[in-house]
Amino acid sequence: MNKDNNQMDKIVSLCKRRGFIFQGSEIYGGLAGTFDYGPYGVTLKRNIENLWWKTFVNDRDDMLGLDAAQISSQKIWEASGHLAGFKDPSVTDIKTRKSYRADHIIEDAGFVAIGLTAEEMSILIKEKKIKSPDGNDFEDVEFFNQMFPLNMGASKDSADVAYLRGELAQGMFTNFKNIMDSIHPKLPFGIAQSGKAFRNEIVAKNYIFRTREFDLMEFEYFFDSEKQDWKNVFEYWREEMYRWIELVGIDKKLCHEIEKLGPDLAHYSKRTIDIEFDFPFGQKELYGLAYRTDYDLNKHQEASGLSHEHLDEETKRKFLPHVMEPTFGINRTLLAVLSTAYAEEDVSEGKDGSDIRTVLKLKNNIAPVKVCVSPLLKNKEILVIKAEEVYKNLKKEFTKLNLGAVVYDDGGNIGKRYRKQDEIGTPYCVVIDFETTESDGCVSVRDRDTMQQVRIKLEDVNEYFVNKFN
Ligand code: GAP
Repeated sequence: MNKDNNQMDKIVSLCKRRGFIFQGSEIYGGLAGTFDYGPYGVTLKRNIENLWWKTFVNDRDDMLGLDAAQISSQKIWEASGHLAGFKDPSVTDIKTRKSYRADHIIEDAGFVAIGLTAEEMSILIKEKKIKSPDGNDFEDVEFFNQMFPLNMGASKDSADVAYLRGELAQGMFTNFKNIMDSIHPKLPFGIAQSGKAFRNEIVAKNYIFRTREFDLMEFEYFFDSEKQDWKNVFEYWREEMYRWIELVGIDKKLCHEIEKLGPDLAHYSKRTIDIEFDFPFGQKELYGLAYRTDYDLNKHQEASGLSHEHLDEETKRKFLPHVMEPTFGINRTLLAVLSTAYAEEDVSEGKDGSDIRTVLKLKNNIAPVKVCVSPLLKNKEILVIKAEEVYKNLKKEFTKLNLGAVVYDDGGNIGKRYRKQDEIGTPYCVVIDFETTESDGCVSVRDRDTMQQVRIKLEDVNEYFVNKFN
């Protein structure tokens, strides 16, 4: 594990100065645990989400999409066990009144918190004289529920309390019957969803890693546990998750698998592995893969009084399907992608003093800007006219084929433009120079990673880039 808080600061700074990510409610001093995604951040986030949807939904024959409501009935979360069990241990500094995750406080002090009750954690904190970050004692440990309640409508009656969803999964379980009755899919099949989830985290920290509002992509894969051994289904999805990790541009060498055991295993799971990643602030959870058995369908069947059983047409056997759940946090994906892609390179080439370029080596499939077109000089009309023509033609082609954003940039000098596009992670810059208009009829194409330039004929520009991004 390689902790590099310096690198984290640099990523945060780049994301702000280049319009990727801002603090939520920033002009009013910021709202803890919330972030706003700026123009490049939202495109990067959407590109990740679209790639995931393409990979796991559109490219497959056994996955169905869903977009369930974010506000959901209290009954869902009672049945799923979240109102009773979705809790984290909290401790409060007796002087500052700031609250912390008790398990994190204990682990940061070098002790093990896994499996301890609230009382045992309180005793350990006292015995080991563990203090708050401000040097004060703590009150006793209490468990704190992470679900966000909402008052629906004008009435203050408790009957009108609803919840912001704490995970997407319950939307798939509570629509299982609707989907079976309307689409009649054959087992095995999955229901996939991407969207917002909300958790009232005791401490939101490490930038976009742990926030109170976040974005998730997950699916529930339903199968007949008598026909398919769950261990094989588990292995299959474990491999698919690593295939995704490479596809999106996360360094697989920085990923580690952690088996969740004992009290660390969620209440609904028979087996869970977390895929952890070496973030700049340490090794932490990136994704999870859980075998949820028929726990959730069972609970919703019981609570709703509606049968959720599947009828096997051949054997006439009625049963509740079992479920495998791969889950992918989008914001953590984005942070792992940024950590993998962020590089600083000395480009002084023997000149006096160092010249460092900062570059985001994002993969072509998720880069927020695909190609940047510029005239070499913005005050030479002949160059500008040609550059605008190249830009418009390329943009039209990319829009038609849905290949992503092409931008026009004539700010600053060409060196500054390259540095800016390097920081945004734009894979290619096209420059129209005097040779284009006066001699060879070619544009110069600069590769972000190698910084090498090649000359491409004006009439071949569209085809050249379509091949790169298709
Ligand atoms: N349906 C299973 C489930 O929700 P989870 O491990 O609680 O499992 C899934 O959360 C994923 O959501 C995590 O692997 C992580 O990527 C992401 N995640 C969880 N809490 C988060 C938070 N507070 N902020 C950002 N991402 C979070």
